[in-house]
Amino acid sequence: MREMIGQKDKEYMAEPIVDWILDGIPTPPKVKLFDDIGFIYEAQLAKMELSSWWDKPEQFRRRAAYFEEVNGEKTYHFYISDIKGKGQIGRTNQYLTHWYYPYKAKFHPQMIKALINWMGLKKGDWLLDPFAGSGTALIESKLVGVNSIGIDIDPLCILMSRVKIDLLDLTGEDLRKVSLRDAFDFFHHRKAKSSVGLNKFLQTKSESYDLGPFKGVDGRIYDFFLLSYLYALSDWRYIKVDMWKQFNKNIKSIVKNVEKFCELKKNLEFEFGETKLIQGDARFITDYGIEANSIDGIVTSPPYSIAVDYIAQDMHAFQYLGIDPRKLQDKLVGLKGKGEEKVKIYFEDMRFAFKSMFEVLKPNSYCAVVIGDVTYNGRKLPISETYVELAKNAGFDYIGIIRRPILGGFARLRYEYIIIFKKP
Ligand SMILES: C[S@@+](CC[C@H](N)C(=O)[O-])C[C@H]1O[C@@H](n2cnc3c(N)ncnc32)[C@H](O)[C@@H]1O
Repeated sequence: MREMIGQKDKEYMAEPIVDWILDGIPTPPKVKLFDDIGFIYEAQLAKMELSSWWDKPEQFRRRAAYFEEVNGEKTYHFYISDIKGKGQIGRTNQYLTHWYYPYKAKFHPQMIKALINWMGLKKGDWLLDPFAGSGTALIESKLVGVNSIGIDIDPLCILMSRVKIDLLDLTGEDLRKVSLRDAFDFFHHRKAKSSVGLNKFLQTKSESYDLGPFKGVDGRIYDFFLLSYLYALSDWRYIKVDMWKQFNKNIKSIVKNVEKFCELKKNLEFEFGETKLIQGDARFITDYGIEANSIDGIVTSPPYSIAVDYIAQDMHAFQYLGIDPRKLQDKLVGLKGKGEEKVKIYFEDMRFAFKSMFEVLKPNSYCAVVIGDVTYNGRKLPISETYVELAKNAGFDYIGIIRRPILGGFARLRYEYIIIFKKP
């Protein structure tokens, strides 16, 4: 064994995996995987993304998710994932702006990037995430130059997605236009007076509302500080840290990331995709002006049924923003009903969501759905099997499933599945 590992040319023990990844690709470029690739699903995704882009190595270098080098040059993901964020693990998650707001149900951006690549989505194409959450798929889409539409029923998710996406276009100078102290005091005191609904926040451009230090400042800056305030509020709620100190700390870290990204944009050639965000219901996608057969690919992660209570998790923010969580609850997939009824309603809602996704997707296009194991009342729900059935009933062809183990941490879920469908 030792001899085998020590063999010349076999630089890494992972060499046979690379052989497997390259197998079947007519003239593969010279590639190097990231050192921390250790799971089978990662090798699978690496093979998939390469299989769609092997004949365009320079473009592949700009968008590859699991490769550190293509033809001897570092990939863009190498540099992007070097702009580190809170809680980052290797090259998988939390880099760049992904970490900015503690949202628990995020998917791994690296994995999503590989799926977008495998689907072959390119400039001018549109990706849809109808359960956009914190905007992970939209950020990755933008970075690889693909347009995207994100839908989420939760206005807080729309706010966090928008801020994290806008930060990619802003500079450190932009973010320093308002003093931290003024911004903090503005949000802190306004809360004491009354809780204003988010819609009011979003209409801040209207004259009737006192914008304090944000008067005449780009609305993106206002939203950035608002989200930063909510971030500090969440930190206070969960880890009881001083809000002002935390507000400072978080902002300083993200400004550093924004500045590093500005440097990177000078050195690399990015062509960003366009992003649209819609606060709406994934069960009725065409209600928002998205036409039938207009979407080139879907990557999404619906609520994990009963496992994550998004409302309770963000109650502090809803209270602050004056959002009535009960109204939201009626539309949130997975939180309605009790006992067995709850499971039934959940799958019924997902039936509508699959029908709706099928309708807007172009024929011959792919839909990847990421979903975790769910245990309810001590029983494991047949979630992936039911999803496959619902998708087939909606008209999709089932292509395959990739299983990803989730180890340790807070995760109650043991496996996550990427289920891939195609519209015939
Ligand atoms: C698992 S999370 C998505 C997380 C996302 N992939 C990310 O990386 O942040 C599921 C999302 O579905 C949203 N949601 C629940 N019911 C919905 C509905 N009827 N229409 C649209 N979004 C909904 C929730 O607000 C939540 O943000």
